[in-house]
Amino acid sequence: MTKKADAPEGGGNQAGKPANKPANKPANTPAADDAGRNQSPGSTGLRKGLTSYGDQGFSLFLRKAFIKGAGYTDGALDRPVIGIANTGSAYNPCHGNMPQLIEAVKRGIMLAGGLPMDFPTISIHESFAAPTSMYLRNLMSMDTEEMIRAQPMDAVVLIGGCDKTVPAQLMGASSAGIPTIQLVTGAMLTGSHRGERVGACTDCRRYWARFRAGEIDAEETSHVNDQLVSSVGTCSVMGTASTMACLSEALGIALPGSASPPAVTADRIRIAEQTGTRAVAMAREGLTIDRVLTPAAFENAMRVLLAIGGSTNGLVHLAAIAGRLGHDIDLQLLDRMGRETPVLLDLKPSGQHYMEDFHRAGGMATLLRELKPLLRLDALTVTGRTLGEEIERAGPGFAQDVVRSVDNPIYPQGGMAVLKGNLAPGGAIIKQSAADAGLMEHEGRAVVFENAADLIERIDRDDLDVHADDVLVLRSIGPKGAPGMPEAGYIPIPRKLARQGVKDMVRISDGRMSGTAFGTVVLHVTPESAIGGPLACVRTGDRIRLSVQRRELSLLISDDELQQRLAALPQTTPSAGRGYLKLFLQSVTQADKGVDFDFLRAEGADQPGGGER
Ligand code: FES
Repeated sequence: MTKKADAPEGGGNQAGKPANKPANKPANTPAADDAGRNQSPGSTGLRKGLTSYGDQGFSLFLRKAFIKGAGYTDGALDRPVIGIANTGSAYNPCHGNMPQLIEAVKRGIMLAGGLPMDFPTISIHESFAAPTSMYLRNLMSMDTEEMIRAQPMDAVVLIGGCDKTVPAQLMGASSAGIPTIQLVTGAMLTGSHRGERVGACTDCRRYWARFRAGEIDAEETSHVNDQLVSSVGTCSVMGTASTMACLSEALGIALPGSASPPAVTADRIRIAEQTGTRAVAMAREGLTIDRVLTPAAFENAMRVLLAIGGSTNGLVHLAAIAGRLGHDIDLQLLDRMGRETPVLLDLKPSGQHYMEDFHRAGGMATLLRELKPLLRLDALTVTGRTLGEEIERAGPGFAQDVVRSVDNPIYPQGGMAVLKGNLAPGGAIIKQSAADAGLMEHEGRAVVFENAADLIERIDRDDLDVHADDVLVLRSIGPKGAPGMPEAGYIPIPRKLARQGVKDMVRISDGRMSGTAFGTVVLHVTPESAIGGPLACVRTGDRIRLSVQRRELSLLISDDELQQRLAALPQTTPSAGRGYLKLFLQSVTQADKGVDFDFLRAEGADQPGGGER
């Protein structure tokens, strides 16, 4: 089992104060931003970020008076303040263990001499957010950033789990710039249906596809619905939540051993206590987030993303987090890494196991040990030690069958490949480890759907002119098109083909796909069709070529014909009259920039080479 982080160095139960050092300002923090937020630079604890009344002494006097109304003593209020971002919500069962986690984090903070202060932020669940959770991720990141900035805290523990919550928290905390440690809620347990082990959500999609194909009836579909999510916690396969949990550990922003414990286990509670304890030490040491989330850390995260067969969404989120710190994710570097980084983790949808099996197999320590020659071992982690030191501390491995060796991988290359061509000049992604090997080199006739509504209207019609070797194209589901870049890129197999036994087809869109899905699905086509990308020019009957070997995605028409079609496109982009939608459509960036708002990215993030070694 993974060796967990120690008690905090210099921690214990002494009521020490945090290092009297202001948190490093992130690159994008204008000086004016601090004016009015923190009238006492270098102040700590409850004295930090005093409210503006024109008299700092009175501001502190008033603040303490109010908090004493909750029964606090001066002794408690003199301790380092550790904020805890609470994303518990009745709408978010993936965070259903939040009360237990907060209690354990608080215990760890108090054992180390700190004062825990939990505060609510937006919480987003994949199935309870309309039109799509991605539409709200940036709003949650702004909420998280501003609450960290506005309220006095010397360090913050971020508790998230469901797909968009961890990225939103890391984006916001990266911009806020104080010492930060991530805690994930942990995966759900698996269930059982007629003797078969099942878990959300690869099996959700598989059973739904069987229902669509007429292989199972409504009654069995209802029975399996009871079993797919058998406890609170995040999806039990290598979807986006599990991907972000593993990436958090690879980035060094979460404690070693914290990615894999299931939500309802003692290991999960223990890691929560240790996270709280470590947050106090980070406050004392002034270990700010920018010292952990460095280019080396992002490089390690990209390696791990490839080696776990991680969700394609992980790439979008990494780009967004990196952009907050002035770094860029280089897609060509990712592709080069992919050619030398095999998929080692045997988890659904690329493999057969579930997250609880990964935990029993030693979790991330087992994977990182195997990947060690490919990692930047000098990257600093929240423990104050490097990733290399943490791998050594985890000790030797043991026999298990979830993490393969480099000599015997699940898939010989990384989980995803970056495609280019006249159809995607800014790039596109395919999760090759979860695709049909027989479709990796494919040329076929395009069958085009204008948008998600058109798809719903026509995909299951018996008179749809479609064949198994056609290429399904769906446009207007990109960042601005839908809006919010929904996970609609997993275009269902047309019902009449599904009934004939067709399981996979080449599918292309400017949208995203759940990390739990399986298929030959080309995603994130950039630039998107709604802003005039070439995807907008494809017509039913055109020929399209996909070559994963050559990293090619091409519309087989002449350059002249393509230019004529592009010139004929309407010169409008989506817009709205008011509210968050207006802000979103004005400001959202493309997939390669993380679908973040342009004004939230750090200055320098768009410089050539930013973030590269
Ligand atoms: Fe929350 Fe899958 S729906 S992690």
